[in-house]
Amino acid sequence: MRHDDFPAGSVWLVGAGPGDPELLTGKALRLIAAADMIFYDALVGPAVLDLIGPGTERICVGKRSGRHSKDQATIDSLIVAAARSGARVVRLKGGDPAIFGRTAEELAACRAAGVPVRICPGITAASAAVASAGASLTLRGVARRLTFVTAHVRADSPLDLDWRTLAAPDSTLAVYMGRAAAATVARQLIAAGRAPDTPVLVVVNAALPDERILRGRLSALAFLVETVSDDDPAMLVIGEAVAATAPQATDRVSRSCASA
Ligand SMILES: C[S@@+](CC[C@H](N)C(=O)[O-])C[C@H]1O[C@@H](n2cnc3c(N)ncnc32)[C@H](O)[C@@H]1O
Repeated sequence: MRHDDFPAGSVWLVGAGPGDPELLTGKALRLIAAADMIFYDALVGPAVLDLIGPGTERICVGKRSGRHSKDQATIDSLIVAAARSGARVVRLKGGDPAIFGRTAEELAACRAAGVPVRICPGITAASAAVASAGASLTLRGVARRLTFVTAHVRADSPLDLDWRTLAAPDSTLAVYMGRAAAATVARQLIAAGRAPDTPVLVVVNAALPDERILRGRLSALAFLVETVSDDDPAMLVIGEAVAATAPQATDRVSRSCASA
C-alpha cells in the first residue's frame, strides 16, 4: 500500500503503547520505519526502541516524573527545528499521546511554526493494566463511569481533585502517576464517601517483562504501593469492575491485602 501521509518536514506524535512491541499499532510501526528522527520519552519500552532502524537518528528527551531531562519548551523547539530541517519526525510517547502526554503543547508548537503534525493513537497504560490483570475498566450496571486522572502535582501544590465526584460508587478511577500520592488518594476518596473495601488494582510495569500485579482494597492502597519503586511506572485502578473477574497472577503483597 502506498502512503503519502509522512512527507519530509512533518511530525507525527506516535503512541508507543505500554512497552510490549506487540501492542504497537501497525501504523506506529510504519511511521517508526519511515522516520528520519525519533524523539522518545523515558517510558518508551526498550523492546520498542529496538525496532528503530540503524539509519534513523534517535534522541531521548527522557521525561519521567520529577526528573525531566529536557523541559517541554526545549522538546517543542527540538521537534520543530528537526522538521524545519526537512526531516520526517516521529515524537514517540509512552501509551497514548493524548493522555497525560503534553500533546497539546507539541501540537501548538508545530502549528505555530507551520509544521504539519498528526497523531497516531496508542494503547494507554490503564487499558494495558486491566488487560494484564484479566479485568475490565467498566462493568455493566455497576461501573458506568470511567475517569482518567493524574495524581502528579508540582512539589509545592496540594492534590486538589474533585473528590466527591471521584468517589461515586458507580465509577472506575484510573490513576496515572499515582504511586507517591496513593495514601492521599485513598484517604480523600474514603473521606468523600467511597467504601474502604472498594477493590483496587495496582499494575507495575504493565506489559513489560518485569510486570507486577497487586490487588487489594482501597483502605490498604498505601500499603499495597509500598513495594513499588519510584523508578517503575504504576497504574492504580480503583472500583468494583477490577474485582469482577477471578484474580490471575498475583504476588505475595496482593494476597496479604486481599482481606484488608
Ligand atoms: C506521563 S504519564 C503518560 C501516560 C501515557 N500517555 C499513557 O497513555 O499510558 C506516565 C504514567 O503512566 C502510567 N504508565 C505508563 N506506562 C505504564 C506501564 N507500562 N505500566 C504501568 N503504568 C504505566 C504510570 O502511571 C506513569 O507514571
